[in-house]
Amino acid sequence: MNLPNLIEAKSRNRKDYNRIDYKIDDSIINKYKGKTFFIKTYGCQMNEHDTENIKALLIDLGFSEVDNYLNADLVLLNTCSIRENAHNKAFGMLGRLKHLKEEKKDLLIGLCGCMAQEVGVVEEILKDYKFVNFVFGTHNLYQLPEILDKAIEENKQQIEVFSREGDLVEGLPVVRANSYKAYVNIIYGCDKFCTYCIVPYTRGRERSRKKEDILNEIDKLIEDGYKEVTLLGQNVNAYGKDLYDDYNLGNLLEDIALKDIPRIRFMTSHPWDFTDKMIEVIGKYPNIMPAVHLPVQSGSSRVLKLMGRRYTRESYLELFHKIKDTVLGVSISTDIIVGFPGETEEDFNDTLSLVEECKYDNAFTFIFSEREGTPACKLKDNTTLKEKEDRLQRLNEVVNKYFLENNKKLENTTLKVLVEGISDKKGMYYGYSETNKLINFSGDRELNIGDIVEVEITDAKTWSLDGRLI
Ligand code: SAH
Ligand code: SF4
Ligand code: F3S
Repeated sequence: MNLPNLIEAKSRNRKDYNRIDYKIDDSIINKYKGKTFFIKTYGCQMNEHDTENIKALLIDLGFSEVDNYLNADLVLLNTCSIRENAHNKAFGMLGRLKHLKEEKKDLLIGLCGCMAQEVGVVEEILKDYKFVNFVFGTHNLYQLPEILDKAIEENKQQIEVFSREGDLVEGLPVVRANSYKAYVNIIYGCDKFCTYCIVPYTRGRERSRKKEDILNEIDKLIEDGYKEVTLLGQNVNAYGKDLYDDYNLGNLLEDIALKDIPRIRFMTSHPWDFTDKMIEVIGKYPNIMPAVHLPVQSGSSRVLKLMGRRYTRESYLELFHKIKDTVLGVSISTDIIVGFPGETEEDFNDTLSLVEECKYDNAFTFIFSEREGTPACKLKDNTTLKEKEDRLQRLNEVVNKYFLENNKKLENTTLKVLVEGISDKKGMYYGYSETNKLINFSGDRELNIGDIVEVEITDAKTWSLDGRLI
């Protein structure tokens, strides 16, 4: 048994880690043929991509996927710790699974992802969720086959969570959710330690993949006909810092842009590491999509300092305008937290006025959620939940106003859209523009998923645009 440990999770001392190639033990390949699994994924794109690896590992063991947990022999929850409601959802699902297991004694239940890295969660599982067969963390996902095999063979709960990131594993198998767009990890972990955030504890220190490994993966995707790659990391802008003296995200983006791939995206960018070189490269290459996710969190320099964000309102705005001025037609989206401990009405008004200035194309807005073990938990918080909810509502009104205003400007223009499928509305295709806007459109000819087509925008809404195929 390996239990999570907060002190080890905080540690950033270890300089080296092993880069190893994944290899499954031959004796367990297809051992569980005929068994089925269902996996439920919470959280961010990183977790979604981990799920693509987990599915492939289970398929190597002989499992096949089903789309209803009631029909599965194994139910796995790939969890997220970012806010309390993500926690509650996973525990709610565990409650339902407990009942199911009372009727279906052989049901296997597993928990992985960021919650598995939390000391409190694992203690709770040990105490009150004895029916969970196995738990593994984000740093030892590649050990799933062995852990699951052991849980079945020994018929005993297995808890295997490493708190300190050990190896950077290449060559994990993957079953991608799409055949036209793909996630590619470029950097794992986060060293920023924003005071409210649990990610540096659940995902470990920043570890970049070697550029050759990334470029090879992308070559393979191009060969397989992929049209879009999204480079993933909690902070992609830190790419290369731990590995190279003079090779960073700007260089990587440029190397990928020179390849024959129509669309390159990346997320998430922390404003602190955004270099002029990156902005220049994004502006220069037409296959790097002009869409930047640039989380601001707050418009008050005082709150930003308490959050440990390493920039001020002024330096953020300077960067924001530099990107807007250099990258033609760029759309910028953001994340905002309201109700951080000690946030006053004046601080909140600073956030509103920043939004009025930035007029974001999209924004994810949250009420501050206390995460155990993070420094923000210790800060005094006098604001009531009701006030926080009220701030969130006022903020949402302003961000929504600009989503619509920006979209209106696109009416009667022509946008390039990557076709993703047929939407519920009969006969309408849907897909995303280069600037990451959702477009529903009618067409008088047959289109394939993954085609990139031109669409004339006829009607703008707050969260989407309607159009017609040209
Ligand atoms: N690495 C990204 C953010 C990843 S988490 C970045 O720094 O930009 C996604 C978003 O969740 C954050 O941008 C933040 O807005 C929100 N978030 C993180 N921790 C939170 C907390 N404790 N309470 C509320 N929102 C939080
Ligand atoms: Fe969390 Fe900050 Fe790291 Fe983003 S940069 S993952 S908000 S600690
Ligand atoms: Fe959640 Fe972990 Fe992603 S906490 S947001 S799943 S990195």
